Amino acid sequence: MLAEHYLLIKQIHIGLALLSGGLFVLRGLWVLLLGKGGNLQKGVNRISYLVDTCLLLAAVLLLAVLSFVPLSAAWLQAKLLLLVLYVLFGVVAFRAQHSLAVRWLAYIAALLCFAGMYYSARLHQPFAGLLAGAVS
Ligand code: HEM
Repeated sequence: MLAEHYLLIKQIHIGLALLSGGLFVLRGLWVLLLGKGGNLQKGVNRISYLVDTCLLLAAVLLLAVLSFVPLSAAWLQAKLLLLVLYVLFGVVAFRAQHSLAVRWLAYIAALLCFAGMYYSARLHQPFAGLLAGAVS
């Protein structure tokens, strides 16, 4: 039954991925340029957590339809590794205890990880195919 809706779920997954990335860009610029505070910022953060939860839920549905076979694919393993790095860099970028320079660097590194996840998925190539020459 889920399989019938595979393409729809994939489109939703892609749409949520783009929305999640857009919200991350917005939240990062907001907190790094203007600092923390305000109910509007808290509201945007909550929407962002909700979008991320739905994005991962859609990912699990896609995997379930594909009987979890893609977990052995290099592009998906690279995507999961980049996801962990993205979360870690994101934590540093949003933590006020680090210097502003470190937070900006972490923010940019997180955005690069995000782009890596997006294009690795789109191209079905680990690290968006950038390491193809080095690995083969
Ligand atoms: C737990 C995390 C994730 C898992 C397990 C996962 C899994 C999957 C799976 C199984 C597909 C279907 C691939 C296919 O049809 O061949 C897919 C597609 C896709 N994912 Fe994810 N995903 C995750 C997170 C993300 C994130 C964070 C992004 C955004 C940066 C993303 C972007 C995409 C894109 C763009 C596609 C479409 C690929 C295509 O055009 O075929 N995914 N994902």
